[in-house]
Amino acid sequence: MNRRRFLGIGGSVLGAGALAAVAVPSAARLFAEGRPGRLLTSELDLPEAFRIPLPVPPLLQPVRTDGTTDYYEITQQVARLEILPGVKTEAWTYGGSFPGPTVVTRFGRTAVVKHRNELPVPSVTHLHGGHTPADSDGYPVDMLLPVGSSPDADQGTAGMPGMSGMRHAASRNVVGERSYTYPGKQRAATLWYHDHRMGFTGPGVWRGLAGFHLVHDDEEGALPLPRGERDLSLMIADRSFAADGSFRYPAVDPSLASPGVTDPYANGVLGDVILVNGAPWPRLDVDRVRYRLRLLNASNARPYRLELDPQPPGGDALVQIGSDGGLLAAPVGHDGIDIAPAERFDVVVDFSRYEPGTQVRLVNRLGSDRTAEVMRFDVSSKEVKDDATVPDRLAAVDALDPSAAVATRDFAFRRSRSDGWTINGDPYQPGSSIAAPALGAVERWRFSTDLHHPVHVHLDHFQVIGRNGGDPGPYDAGWKDTVDLRPAEAVEVLVRFTDYAGTYMLHCHNLEHEDMAMMADFTVQ
Ligand code: C2O
Ligand code: CU
Repeated sequence: MNRRRFLGIGGSVLGAGALAAVAVPSAARLFAEGRPGRLLTSELDLPEAFRIPLPVPPLLQPVRTDGTTDYYEITQQVARLEILPGVKTEAWTYGGSFPGPTVVTRFGRTAVVKHRNELPVPSVTHLHGGHTPADSDGYPVDMLLPVGSSPDADQGTAGMPGMSGMRHAASRNVVGERSYTYPGKQRAATLWYHDHRMGFTGPGVWRGLAGFHLVHDDEEGALPLPRGERDLSLMIADRSFAADGSFRYPAVDPSLASPGVTDPYANGVLGDVILVNGAPWPRLDVDRVRYRLRLLNASNARPYRLELDPQPPGGDALVQIGSDGGLLAAPVGHDGIDIAPAERFDVVVDFSRYEPGTQVRLVNRLGSDRTAEVMRFDVSSKEVKDDATVPDRLAAVDALDPSAAVATRDFAFRRSRSDGWTINGDPYQPGSSIAAPALGAVERWRFSTDLHHPVHVHLDHFQVIGRNGGDPGPYDAGWKDTVDLRPAEAVEVLVRFTDYAGTYMLHCHNLEHEDMAMMADFTVQ
């Protein structure tokens, strides 16, 4: 499957020459797969689990600060990383590491992040979950072209027949460096940044373009939650490796000059190596105290059901304190957590519920063989004081009022026989908006699916008010920016866009679906 074909069908972006006959996998074949994606196996021996210490991504320091703003710089660059022991993997990185450096900002302070592109390809940086003005949001055709490119040549689209058409009026290409401004008008939350380039988000993220961005505020800071080394961000991502150590990815065009994955992977690419913070099946020594784990699923297509094994006596091993958009009103205990691509679950685990010396595995009940393991916590036997607790009340979460909704909109996420992955029947056309919500108005948005689609909305978080005609599910609490829909499900959310007018996207966060056009613009006005 190939996006040129999808876009060609629409006709307005690409010329007729783009209508190359490319086989589209039969719906029957895709529907037969109850789960998204297909496993791509690695071509080299995989390491034993639980040998490598959990890495902590570097913290990004501001290069300068003033009364209102902290200024950061990130160079996007190729780096040769040792991900599998003794193997070098060429990665596309933010600042030379995978995950990229963690950006930590505070409510009310503006962060300006200047990105410099020394990669061989254009990039687009999106702060996922960011309440961001449109010109800094990482619109997929607002490319940052590599240092030294010519702005007028068909850069970023060179060698991509038809893709030059993506340089529509809304595109704001820049060469070398560009600054993204994040005004910080949002509550404490675990956000992440990643590549969002038109047609290439899947391979870009797969090769390493992802990092954490944490927002803190006073409300969170006043709570007695675990902090410091006991506040851990865990980026969980599956990958596959080729015989030469490179990331293996089933691109139609291995040089990535033109987008698309080979036919069998059109429903998503699943790796056979589970990385946490860029290390395969790592381990971590933990004290017998509470830890805060900010879980992020940064996989292209793989959903997980995360559980601790063994479960602590009495269950509720994972006490959820936050979701995509920050703290919940009150904690929710779970034995396991279903996490779809791009979702975040902020949980507290109390390792004092385990005997000293217990090896507690974080497992994936949706995986099999090696993908059923994620990482291991080794509980120490020394006596350590725990000054953290999880209070019964966490944060003020104002419920949006369904009766205040001024509009109801339906978004159907479906595979079309001729156009690939679509929203309301159409493949993505940059510049063509399918909704025009008014700033400040509450709207009811209804998502429905054929297959498995994690649905993501830019600009503002939403609240799930119903699932399949009933109550929200166990993982729908709080402010969300990504909601997981299984096959033939329907989810209702309330959303209110604030502060920034402009064009944003909603899309499926299965990155192979996204690249294959399951995205749409909406324009806030
Ligand atoms: Cu995490 Cu529009 O993306
Ligand atoms: Cu999808």
